Order: sequence, then structure tokens, then C-alpha cells
Amino acid sequence: MFAARLARQTTKPLRFVRRVSTTPARRSDALFVHRDTTYNNPKIPFEFNTENLKRAQEIVSHYPPQYKKAATIPLLDLAQRQNKGWTSISVMNYVAKLLEMPPMRVYEVATFYTMFNREPIGQNFVQVCTTTPCMLRGAYDILNTVCSELGGIKPGRTTKDGKFTVIEVECQGACSNAPMLVVGMTSTCVLLSLNLSYVVVETDLCGLVGGCRRI
Ligand code: FES
Repeated sequence: MFAARLARQTTKPLRFVRRVSTTPARRSDALFVHRDTTYNNPKIPFEFNTENLKRAQEIVSHYPPQYKKAATIPLLDLAQRQNKGWTSISVMNYVAKLLEMPPMRVYEVATFYTMFNREPIGQNFVQVCTTTPCMLRGAYDILNTVCSELGGIKPGRTTKDGKFTVIEVECQGACSNAPMLVVGMTSTCVLLSLNLSYVVVETDLCGLVGGCRRI
């Protein structure tokens, strides 16, 4: 009897099976694979300017010479800031050369950490947190409002005029002030705690979010 019931249950079509997790499958290799393009290929030169080279040397000096590859993340970050907010293949190769390590090791780091943008971004980089605390406080309303005010772009896209890129990110480490978003302007960021009803997007970054409270 039990076996018959079990058999009946196991022959149910798959759509009746209750899923425990609904995490969407990632169907793109965009984050992990580099393909040469006109704007991102190893022939495009990159090197630190004088000021950043000095900063890089200072950063590297914090580590024993045999462990200078530990400076990979800070150097990638510095290079990304100089490279208009994104990490190209030339940036990664340059950092690898500077730290005397195989480029593959740098690629591994840059493709693992999502704060390294592997594609060019707009002048103003808007990162909306949608992790649980922010989600419960209306993060998706914010995301949708920002996207629709910027001409209906989708998260992960840049406006046609190149002024704004909007992405959805995980926890920004300020959950107690949820909902949070970061607006990055080249190398600087402001962390804003938003009151949903005051989200107003304008073309100028200064007026990007009205009624915000800086923390
Ligand atoms: S969940 Fe959004 S800042 Fe932590």
C-alpha cells in the first residue's frame, strides 16, 4: 500500500515538486571569461600614473618581499580607480607584472570578487543592495524606481549617454540603515540610507537621490 502510494507520488510531473531554493541559474559566462574586444584587449596599454605608482609601491612595501602577491586586491582596486572604474585585461596583466606573478592568478582574483568590474561602467555607478534586510525595506522598489527614472534600463546596464550604470549588489555592510545604495563617482562613493518615497533620479549626480540622509 505504502509502496503503491510512493510510486504514485514519484511519478508526478516535475512541476508539482516543491523547490527548496529558487536561486536563479546563472546562464552567462560573462563574469568569468575574457574575450578580446576593441575596447578590452591586451594591446591597449595601461600603467600606473606617477602618483598611483608611488601608492602601489607603498602598498607593496607592507608585505614581505616573498609575499608581495598579497597586494593583488589593493593594487587591482587602485588600478580600477585609475581605469575609469573597471578592470580591463591590460589592468590585470599590469598588476601581474608589477607583482611578478602569473597573470592567471590575478585573473582568478578579479573574476572572483564582484567589486572588480570587468566591463566599462558609466560616469556614475549606482549599486543597489537587495540582500534580505534591504529587500525587506523596499530595495526592489528603489531598484525599479532608479531603473525606470534612468530611461527603463535593466540592472547591470548603462544609460545611452554613458552617465549611469545601475547594478544590484549583495550586502553593503550597513544593514541597520537599510535600504542602502552606493553611488560611486569615479573613485569616491557615498553611502546613502534612503527613504523610499524620496527617490528622485535626475541627470546630475548631485540630484540623484533627493531626501537622502548621509551616514
Ligand atoms: S543587506 Fe543591504 S546593507 Fe546589508
